[in-house]
Amino acid sequence: MKMEQIQSIIEKMTLREKLFLCTGDGSWKTKEYEHLGIPSVIMSDGTNGVRFQKGSEQSPGERPFSEGLGDKFDDEGAMQRTYKATCFPSGSAIACSWDRDLIKRIGRDIAKECKALGINMLLGPGMNIRRHPLTARNFEYYSEDPVLSGEMAAAIVQAIQSEGVGSCIKHFACHNSDTRRTRVNVRVSERALREIYLAGFERAVKKAAPVSLMTAYNQINGEEVSGESRVVRDILRQEWDYNGMVVCDWGAVKDPVAASRGTIDLQMPLSKGSASYLEEAVKQGELDERLIDQRCARILEQVFKLKEWEASWKKEEVPSDSHALAAEAAGDSMVLLRNEDHILPLQPQKGERYAIIGDMAKNPLYQGTGCAIVNARQVDIPLECMQKYLADCQVTYARGYESDGSSSEALLKEAETAAAQADKVLLFVGSLLPPEDDDFNRKDIRLPQGMQELVERVTAVNRNCVVVLAGGEVCEMPWRHQTAALLLTWFTGEGMGQAVGEILFGEKSPSGRLAATIPERLCDTPAYLSFDGNIYDIPYADDIYVGYRYYTKRHIEPAYPFGYGLSYVPFVYGNLVVKQKGADVTVCVDVTNGGEMEAAEVVQLYVAPPAEGALPRPVRELKAFEKVKLAPGETKTVTLELTQRDFAAYDPEVKAWVVEKGSYSVEIARSCQDMILHQAVEQEGTCPPRPLRYDCGFHELFQTPEAKKMFLEFLVEQGLVAQDQANEALADKMTWSFWPVWNFLDMNSGKVFYQAYRDFIDRVNTRITAKS
Ligand code: BGC
Repeated sequence: MKMEQIQSIIEKMTLREKLFLCTGDGSWKTKEYEHLGIPSVIMSDGTNGVRFQKGSEQSPGERPFSEGLGDKFDDEGAMQRTYKATCFPSGSAIACSWDRDLIKRIGRDIAKECKALGINMLLGPGMNIRRHPLTARNFEYYSEDPVLSGEMAAAIVQAIQSEGVGSCIKHFACHNSDTRRTRVNVRVSERALREIYLAGFERAVKKAAPVSLMTAYNQINGEEVSGESRVVRDILRQEWDYNGMVVCDWGAVKDPVAASRGTIDLQMPLSKGSASYLEEAVKQGELDERLIDQRCARILEQVFKLKEWEASWKKEEVPSDSHALAAEAAGDSMVLLRNEDHILPLQPQKGERYAIIGDMAKNPLYQGTGCAIVNARQVDIPLECMQKYLADCQVTYARGYESDGSSSEALLKEAETAAAQADKVLLFVGSLLPPEDDDFNRKDIRLPQGMQELVERVTAVNRNCVVVLAGGEVCEMPWRHQTAALLLTWFTGEGMGQAVGEILFGEKSPSGRLAATIPERLCDTPAYLSFDGNIYDIPYADDIYVGYRYYTKRHIEPAYPFGYGLSYVPFVYGNLVVKQKGADVTVCVDVTNGGEMEAAEVVQLYVAPPAEGALPRPVRELKAFEKVKLAPGETKTVTLELTQRDFAAYDPEVKAWVVEKGSYSVEIARSCQDMILHQAVEQEGTCPPRPLRYDCGFHELFQTPEAKKMFLEFLVEQGLVAQDQANEALADKMTWSFWPVWNFLDMNSGKVFYQAYRDFIDRVNTRITAKS
């Protein structure tokens, strides 16, 4: 619908009608006004599949306050009220596939399931940076790296929206901890904000134009993101030119007037209180009604767009092969961390004895909880899925531990005996999430005690032990050296069981690569000392050194680095060709599958900064990647493009992305620590001159020859030196000084020219900034 038509509808609306358009009709709908021709749209969670509760499409009636206060997302009642849907790998899992096409196919299937249920907009994907592994909701998010996060998010948003369903990326921004998540304040530097926490959102917004964006619960540097904040109003709206619908996270608005000023459009869920509060504010002249009109305009633009899309929906059937896609995606996301003496893929021999151990072989851990939980359509059971490969073998099963991860001597003993009598052991374990409550962050990243003991006892009696490890985030694995192989399955969704079978028994070569560093110990992690602050503040002391940026800079050896993952075949790289056109760079590299089965490789491209830059930088940063599938012996040329921005850092002093002049290294790698090929690339640089401060030193002042010349003229002007003394040699005599220029002159001249000095600095600044 055209903007003029939208404006004319708004003109007909009463203030009250407008205010009720700016909040939900219940929890999952926007308000419908039949007499104004305004339809309603329906939205629903989640991030790796649809979570839609029966009855959500109806406007809720009044209900007594006490009713439903104890309702949780994942209790039995809630699950019964939730429609079935395909449960795909969660964010932290699918990111390990590094596969844009795959996540697009998932996006299209999720959108089809939305259409079948009448959902116009999906409240996903979640794309916060995984700053610290204790964050309970990290399983919903992609990576510790903004390029990988932004690319995966952009791909799924494009796919969902190509099917006529809107996508709402969340939670913008710095929502990186769950304890007191609705009210903490994040203290973050401008540089970390831009380079780490906003960069992925910026990529998704610019590449995929999501219909909507959800603002987070927290504050950033003292500003409520779901209130009046610079990140929404100035950066998202103005700098990135985002005109979509900004929705606050459920219950995130604390001050509706501030939210209106901050360009938050839709306050969810229904808040009658907020509507009356705003009505009063407008009537009292505290809030300009035009801000409400603007909110309505942005909401209506997206509502009409979503309705137009809906009109083109065909009678949707749930895609019949979505379970197959879930299983395929699960397999492509699992990461093989260890494979001693090529124990994998397993080749079961007739009569061979296999012990399958662990409750999770029967009750797989395949998804997280909270608002991302999916009432999965069809869950594959690993134990059952492995039967066909082990038909000629003797298979014993031992439970090993209880469903809460605890164990007992009887369970441990039974497992130990089964392991001791087997040729090979398949041991299923996983790290559980804490129950959702106010203190929702994890307490540690270890396996539950019972499982840990189980791994130790089982591997002590049988070294041919393959551990299959599930979890939404990384886990400490001091026991890994005792295992023969270690397959990290993450929360890979309902097809996890089938996928485990395919990988363990060699129907598929593992191709997942870590989207986050696995630390040796929790205390090695970058945010270990600054994850919690006092009650309300979280200092982001790790700054731009998040994830591998920290480990590589500090030479801290993790258990497994970012980008790492094994395959059943070797890949051979060669023929690196780097072409430059201005600041843009095209990188081509050949990759060959040197093995005997089809396999996929993730080609990773990192950029390392020049050694002598003024800004501190990470050792290297991921800038591009591509996943390629290769038949045995096949070679493909992979082309990766870099733009000027890929060489830039955000310089808070000049408030801009700058490329420092110098020699950068373009590196093709297997992980952030394993460089295969590299080539130097020169960049001319785009650094605007930094404006001088009044307390600048001689080094800053003499950065440009022009400023040096002006300084010498200034000395003459003030009568400090004669014209013939004012030369380079004189200037050079002062450059040793650590004092600010002003104090140095003051102390050595005995004259008063304070204001003249300030005027001089102003003149220099005007000259150098005018030139840039
Ligand atoms: C969560 C969002 C979710 C919303 C609606 C909030 O508590 O943070 O991710 O989309 O609830 O369920």
